Amino acid sequence: MDELRTSQPISWLDDVDPDGVVINPAHELYGRSLAGVSLRYPGASGSTVGSDRIVNLAVRGRAPKRIRLERADPITLWGAILGKIDVEILGAPRTPVDRGRLEALGVTGEVADFLARAAELLGTDEFVPADHVQIAGVSYKTITDTGLELRRYWGSRYRFRAKHVTINPAGMDLEDWRSLGFPEAFAQKQQEIIDIYLRMGATPTVTCTPYLTGAMPPPFTDAFLSESSVVSYANSVLGIRTNRESGLSTLLYAIAGYGPRYGLHLPENRQPRLEVRVTEALRGPVDFGLLGYALGTRVHGRIPYLTGITSRPSVEELKALSAAGAASGSIDLYHIEGVTPEAQAHRVSLDRVEETIEIDRAVLEDAKRTLNTGRPEELDLVTFGCPHASLDEVREIAAYLEGKRIRSGVTLWVCTSRAVKTLSDRLGYVATVEAAGGHVVADTCMVVSPIEEMGHRTTATSSAKAGKYLPRFCRQNVIFDTPQEILSRIVV
Ligand code: F3S
Repeated sequence: MDELRTSQPISWLDDVDPDGVVINPAHELYGRSLAGVSLRYPGASGSTVGSDRIVNLAVRGRAPKRIRLERADPITLWGAILGKIDVEILGAPRTPVDRGRLEALGVTGEVADFLARAAELLGTDEFVPADHVQIAGVSYKTITDTGLELRRYWGSRYRFRAKHVTINPAGMDLEDWRSLGFPEAFAQKQQEIIDIYLRMGATPTVTCTPYLTGAMPPPFTDAFLSESSVVSYANSVLGIRTNRESGLSTLLYAIAGYGPRYGLHLPENRQPRLEVRVTEALRGPVDFGLLGYALGTRVHGRIPYLTGITSRPSVEELKALSAAGAASGSIDLYHIEGVTPEAQAHRVSLDRVEETIEIDRAVLEDAKRTLNTGRPEELDLVTFGCPHASLDEVREIAAYLEGKRIRSGVTLWVCTSRAVKTLSDRLGYVATVEAAGGHVVADTCMVVSPIEEMGHRTTATSSAKAGKYLPRFCRQNVIFDTPQEILSRIVV
């Protein structure tokens, strides 16, 4: 079998269509079908529900027959294991796993089989308690019927042994989906997915900002997190140790109550190899999102160490940076001089830095131009909250909308967690947004909800992560700008 080879990572959610054809024009495999081929590539980038996409392709006979990975990548690995695709990690020693060890931890049967197989491929025979797990792969839009079937299977047999299991956004607002216009058939399947997770023992956080609303472990402890922006934020800002797990690996680790110790769980793998001098004073979350987006295209798998960020970034700025870097370049961990915990605790060494690059205003402007693909006059949906809006972000939008009206023909969604929506409601922000004609939408977001099925074609966002996914995964033209600029275009 001939080998199809690429030096570029693949984002299975939006680089590849449901028939296994590469649809990202910027990818060197653009237009090629991956069905039935032997594929060699560095690893998956972008969304961690890529593993569900791989299983889906396998079930439909559209997946690669064989995958050779250049680095330990749980997204591809778990998609391949559950999709029964031949997979190997090049150069990684295969470590035989003693099943007795897993059984002594109470992990038995098929769950032990899967864990042992994954650990062997990842080159470890060490397992640590999975006390904190965050599961992506909750939206029916992202996991589709194949993913629902898998969850039905696991949900009918197992409960979570992990103590704290939080879940990612769903494909709809779980309370107001009908009034917001979500399709009934979609809603039924979405509700079934949520019911399965809750029966298994998940906490219904239904958000990609569990660090704002749910239980997170203290710094320097191990966790198994799978939404890419959460992984980046937890590793970098909170000092938690997690790999960028897939939706499926976290499901299995939550059932087992244990997960393999490898990659970013090990302090020696958390050292930077790229120094990034930011020569521009950054202004707000949009600038930080653009920095993350630009950085993602430049790191090439290396952990960056950022210098030149002189004022202490806010939570909103750091979540924008984490989300955009993870989406555009799979940045699972970054350090900022004097800011992030490992840098502050002097646990970062620059000994292995092999290159220094600079990021200036021109780079940020270039990223902004790339994200803008739509025409402002065609705007029909305005969305904020990727990652889910903090209370401060909801407050700022409500303050802007006070006493104003959104022009007809434009829908406004402020996407957030149920917990933040509840607080926003008590503080009167929800009423203000609704009085202007907008909606504070909980449990979902502009990317994982079926906005294209709901008739939207041109979407505005201030999130570089959303700007990356909306064109191909949601078939949207994108207007990217600051919240103030976007809002000024739609109020009367
Ligand atoms: Fe969260 Fe959706 Fe963005 S899951 S990070 S708001 S794409």
